[in-house]
Amino acid sequence: MTILVTGGAGFIGSNFVLDWLAQSDESVVNFDKLTYAGNLQNLASLQDDPRHIFIKGDIGDFDLVSRLLNEHKPRAILNFAAESHVDRSIHGPEDFIQTNIVGTFRLLEAVRAYWGGLQGEAKSSFRFLHVSTDEVYGSLEMNDPPFSETNRYEPNSPYSASKASSDHLVRAYHHTYGLPVLTTNCSNNYGPYHFPEKLIPLVIHNALAGKPLPIYGDGQQIRDWLYVKDHCSAIRRVLEAGKVGEVYNIGGWNEKPNLDVVHTLCAILDELKPRQDGQPYKSQITFVQDRPGHDRRYAIDASKMEKELGWKPAETFETGIRKTVQWYLDHQDWVKNITSGAYREWVERQYGA
Ligand code: NAD
Ligand code: TYD
Repeated sequence: MTILVTGGAGFIGSNFVLDWLAQSDESVVNFDKLTYAGNLQNLASLQDDPRHIFIKGDIGDFDLVSRLLNEHKPRAILNFAAESHVDRSIHGPEDFIQTNIVGTFRLLEAVRAYWGGLQGEAKSSFRFLHVSTDEVYGSLEMNDPPFSETNRYEPNSPYSASKASSDHLVRAYHHTYGLPVLTTNCSNNYGPYHFPEKLIPLVIHNALAGKPLPIYGDGQQIRDWLYVKDHCSAIRRVLEAGKVGEVYNIGGWNEKPNLDVVHTLCAILDELKPRQDGQPYKSQITFVQDRPGHDRRYAIDASKMEKELGWKPAETFETGIRKTVQWYLDHQDWVKNITSGAYREWVERQYGA
């Protein structure tokens, strides 16, 4: 048996592939375009592992995806591939529309044709699991209850609008064609292999480099943080026991204002790697211009995951964030490779322009 993971060289996808193969002998076909966010170094420990087959390609390439499906015959597809950074979507939405909307559509078309050709048990047990975000629900007021699966979609950024579109397409392929889909909407992740353009790895990286720690606006925006390995265990559980056609909200009940998150990171760094001049890292905090259309608060009601699938996160924010800081301190080579552009050079050398 085989699963096909798209976007498996990115932050969450690579954590998922590593976790999957640590717990199962079922092989993984990892299909990733290797954009700036995809990094095969995340999967270096699987280099000689025959259970991991990496193929470079675009989910929007119908012919290539169709060929792969017919060759490897996966019993499930987990779609992590996406453009994922809100700030980049504000500067240039085009890639988000192409990958998150058009790419998901073409992938669904290839999967529909493949699934349509399956027979019996192979057909009835097949699953297409679409990994999405809580950002599709828009922004909460302080006193609003957290997002449940029945909240209206009210996306506010080109990123969240493109993810919302992809969720609608996935839903429509179930209702119209009967494709056995599952959709997960998760809150903000953090942990190993997080690209240092996002808040938590960026702050760790800048703190250690003696650079400013940029806080957008007043820093009181709230995000609901989940340790990435808890997201992976939730996805495994949904794949195993989720009801076809259902949506599952995944979160860790960890709402924190951004400024609190940055203060926590600074305090852990003060303890684990104090600055040579004895000053606290929080002295590097710098308030900068706010993000346009910045969503004020996200929060996930994860009770359906707990009640129906018996899933709960293993980490609290305090344990997860400490592990994360330690991981970055232990993997400075990984960070250096990405931020120096050496990784990009490697991709071009390996795969051509
Ligand atoms: P990421 O940006 O780190 O990784 C995305 C991966 O997809 C990269 O490896 C990239 O090369 C690949 N990719 C991009 N376009 C592709 C294409 N057209 N074809 C094939 N591969 C392509 O993103 P991430 O943070 O790992 O997020 C993974 C998924 O989880 C995304 O769908 C995202 O919307 C969702 N999500 C992320 C978070 C979060 O906090 N990071 C939270 C909830 C949901
Ligand atoms: P980010 O990690 O980009 O995730 P998302 O926008 O998907 O929630 O940002 C998390 C929060 O941190 C968000 O409210 C924006 C804020 N932020 C900053 O204040 N400074 C920064 O440099 C970055 C990258 C984000």
